[in-house]
Amino acid sequence: MYTMQSWTCIFLVICSMQRVCRCCDWIRNHYGLLSAEYLSLLDQMGGDITEQDAPVLSPTSLYRHIDDAEFEDKVRFLNETIYQIKKQFDGNMKAVTWDKKNLDDFLNILERQFENLNSCVSPAMKPERRLKRYFKKLNRKVLRKMNYSAQAWELIRKETQRHLQRLEILVGKMY
Ligand SMILES: *[C@@H]1O[C@H](CO)[C@@H](O)[C@H](O)[C@H]1NC(C)=O
Ligand SMILES: *[C@@H]1O[C@H](CO)[C@@H](O)[C@H](O)[C@H]1NC(C)=O
Repeated sequence: MYTMQSWTCIFLVICSMQRVCRCCDWIRNHYGLLSAEYLSLLDQMGGDITEQDAPVLSPTSLYRHIDDAEFEDKVRFLNETIYQIKKQFDGNMKAVTWDKKNLDDFLNILERQFENLNSCVSPAMKPERRLKRYFKKLNRKVLRKMNYSAQAWELIRKETQRHLQRLEILVGKMY
């Protein structure tokens, strides 16, 4: 009976290790490919990125903090940031003049990245509140305040590019 339990235990440990590692491999082999694709689409879907800055402070301390976090927490951070970005793009986009096909492809590939990350690890007990608050502020101070104008969307595009580039750097440092 005792041996049986030890074996079950070892088996469970191996299983959980494999689950994490499959995720490691997936991120190592695919995250960068999808990331390069959507960053390139984001760049190509409109003109030059605006010089203007969004009137919201960048959550620099969050990124500094996540640099020291465990692998799984980093994956959860990637998951949540990409989810929040997707959510911003649900807003009224009537004013944008971006290339429709590039925009759709951008969102589809972002969705694929999100789904992969989401199935990679188990959800956190305590979701990152500061990240949510930052994106809410961005929504209120840029999109809503500027009436979902083309210029407001350009600011969102710029912030999005910044975040997706930062996430890429974060992933680069995970290995
Ligand atoms: C990914 O983000 C979504 C949206 O916040 C959340 O419902 C889900 O639990 C997250 N998954 C992980 C693995 O953190
Ligand atoms: C947004 O719309 C509101 C109401 O239609 C208007 O009062 C406000 O001046 C507009 N803001 C901008 C930045 O265009």
